[in-house]
Amino acid sequence: MARAAPSYTCSSCGASHKKWQGRCDGCGAWNTLVEEAPLSAGPKSLGAKGRTIPLTDLATEEAPPSRAASGMDELDRVLGGGLVPASAILVGGDPGIGKSTLLLQATAAFAGRGLKCLYISGEEASAQVRMRAQRLGLAQAPVGLGAETALRDILTTLDAERPDLVIIDSIQTMWLDTVESAPGSVAQVRAAAHELVTFAKRRGVSVILVGHVTKEGQIAGPRVVEHMVDTVLYFEGERGHQFRILRAVKNRFGPADEIGVFEMTGDGLAQVSNPSALFLSDRETATPGSAVFAGIEGTRPVLTEIQALVAPSPLGTPRRTVVGIDSGRLSTILAVLEARCGIPFAGLDVFVNVAGGMRVSEPAADLAVAGALLSAREDVAIPPDMVLFGEISLSGALRPVGQTENRLKEASKLGFSQATLPSRSKLGQSEGMRLRQMADLTAFVGEMFGA
Ligand code: TYD
Ligand code: MG
Repeated sequence: MARAAPSYTCSSCGASHKKWQGRCDGCGAWNTLVEEAPLSAGPKSLGAKGRTIPLTDLATEEAPPSRAASGMDELDRVLGGGLVPASAILVGGDPGIGKSTLLLQATAAFAGRGLKCLYISGEEASAQVRMRAQRLGLAQAPVGLGAETALRDILTTLDAERPDLVIIDSIQTMWLDTVESAPGSVAQVRAAAHELVTFAKRRGVSVILVGHVTKEGQIAGPRVVEHMVDTVLYFEGERGHQFRILRAVKNRFGPADEIGVFEMTGDGLAQVSNPSALFLSDRETATPGSAVFAGIEGTRPVLTEIQALVAPSPLGTPRRTVVGIDSGRLSTILAVLEARCGIPFAGLDVFVNVAGGMRVSEPAADLAVAGALLSAREDVAIPPDMVLFGEISLSGALRPVGQTENRLKEASKLGFSQATLPSRSKLGQSEGMRLRQMADLTAFVGEMFGA
């Protein structure tokens, strides 16, 4: 039998490679490939015969799994309405972003609703977790604490205690004695996650795994277990900003792309039930280079401010710096402005930023980005009571986007009185907003900037 060749696994995204290379083909990260011991072939035995059931024989009276709500609305919405029994959830995020804080608060909330909850920390001693709980005002919450990293022991404990929900903080600290590599390696993290997810399904326990996003190659990142779990949430935020966004990127039991917004305060995470007001709160009105985008995040409209700065460049290749939107999208918008409207950005540095540390991925933001760019370039402010949305096609046409009604309603609620949007948008009642519908970018440039 041929000897199994070693393989190299990317510790950031889990892609496997035949030979070592400096850069991962899967995610483009540098120096993240680590050698993984080949799987032993094991004894060749035929598997035992399983059983299949015709779909039609499944009892129809079995109700869909009832969800347990925590009462933290921002969390429940991201989970798709609450915690599904026997589900496995991954919560990823940068170290220090507030994952442990969020989950301790969530655990206490679920425990308050009658779920039996265990919080297992592999990073902090129980006393430290208790201190944090005290700081959060949760010292009296009926939550079981454990400080343990040996997964075998944890599983035995869980088997005996039979909780409804268990938090594993973090999956990178867990280790299994059957796997030879070090804790935190791709093999350990995968094996530990597999054990926990299997346990969740078999015993009907919900499991939340915490995973640190890592920059170094030796510790596996949360992406290597994304495919094993039912729900993947990322906890994001900019350093220096208090806002934290919990974003669902995969959810078997609810909509993906839903967000929950929190604010990190001196005593834990506070829920932000009106994110639009928060993101627009420190807006300087009537400054050139600012445009308000009426966006949709999951099921909820969220207004954000897009800021642009355009300045003569001393460099041969001018800078294109973006925070919060896709840089490819910016290039496309700049190219369309140049080719279709005759407005060049060559020789100019361009900076685009979404205020408040928010990340916008909807194509509907195109028009607001173009608006901010033009406003900065022409030094003409966009009316402060105007929101913009619409997708820009390569031809320069403006394409209608979904949920026009919801976007306008939210804008109106926050005191905006006019909107620029693509013509042919599906309108309901326009909520007393003055609508400026435009067919293409040229019309937009003409009307707004008189070019
Ligand atoms: P933590 O939950 O430990 O982050 P993670 O588990 O993602 O590594 O949060 C750490 C940061 O949060 C730390 O810098 C302190 C800050 N923090 C507050 O600002 N207020 C609080 O009430 C708590 C508990 C933490
Ligand atoms: Mg932590």
